[in-house]
Amino acid sequence: MPLIRFPQPAASEITPKEVFLNRRRFMAAAGAASMLPALPALAQNAAAQKLTAAPGPFGTDEEKTPYDAVTGYNNFYEFGTGKEDPARNAGSLTTKPWTIKVDGLVNTPGEIGIEELLAFPLEERVYRLRCVEAWSMVIPWVGFPLAELIKRYDVQGSAKYVAFETLVRPEEMPGQNSRSLDWPYVEGLRMDEAMHPLTILAVGLYGEVMPNQNGAPVRLVVPWKYGFKSIKSIVRMSFTEKQPPTTWNIQAPQEYGFYSNVNPEVDHPRWSQASERRVGDGFFAKRIETLPFNGYGEQVASLYAGMDLRANY
Ligand code: MTE
Repeated sequence: MPLIRFPQPAASEITPKEVFLNRRRFMAAAGAASMLPALPALAQNAAAQKLTAAPGPFGTDEEKTPYDAVTGYNNFYEFGTGKEDPARNAGSLTTKPWTIKVDGLVNTPGEIGIEELLAFPLEERVYRLRCVEAWSMVIPWVGFPLAELIKRYDVQGSAKYVAFETLVRPEEMPGQNSRSLDWPYVEGLRMDEAMHPLTILAVGLYGEVMPNQNGAPVRLVVPWKYGFKSIKSIVRMSFTEKQPPTTWNIQAPQEYGFYSNVNPEVDHPRWSQASERRVGDGFFAKRIETLPFNGYGEQVASLYAGMDLRANY
């Protein structure tokens, strides 16, 4: 029997963090109110490089998850399996120089550097991110459509998928010294999913370059799929004819499929996917209903017309 190492989203594990985040938010607000009423309530990282981004499409007017929660409650197993490990350990990651290797079924393989990626017209996209562990956040990403990058390459007609790979560098990624997952972390999309205008490569959030714990310097964001499809710190993109292997499917195939579209009607074998909690909303906040395709059904449901989404989970 495969060993299942995905952490349970037990209330006992999540609740103290929620309370903690709320308390921090409260203290930040109280501090700002008593001393510097003009300061914005959101504490961003003063040292971080700012990015200029135009407002992008598909935004939501739901309340954004506070910066502290977005950057303090993460899944990034390369830095440990605990939610606070990435914020604690990811400072050691060197993100310059950085390149993504582009290969596979493409007539113009090559490498693209982070400077070139940052030169794409950047947009702010406020997306919901729904984790398979049944929590969610609303995050103002800064990035550009993945399609804009793919269009620069002469991809062969036989390419049906694009595979992504995260950096392997155990000297800087302490989690890679343990076998919590098979390294490198890998993910994949069908070509039409990769070309969809909702799919972005993100290089920042909250108007700043991407914090290391969120997948610096460049990560994928696919908002209608469970969060684990949104692979961080990408170093390779390969065009393939066959469906590529994906980390959580390798880890627990009976629990995680290739598609991983958010679907409240298909429960995870160990918990319901019908509702979610918004990180930062606090202990007594009501759970909210999970929407098909994480609320992006109007944009993406047609990609799966005729497919049995119970079998193709
Ligand atoms: N990418 C890599 N390389 N390693 C990871 O462990 N975790 C995934 C995804 N991308 C992960 C990853 C999971 S489970 C989630 S929910 C999101 O990243 C979390 O993104 P966030 O920390 O920016 O909210």
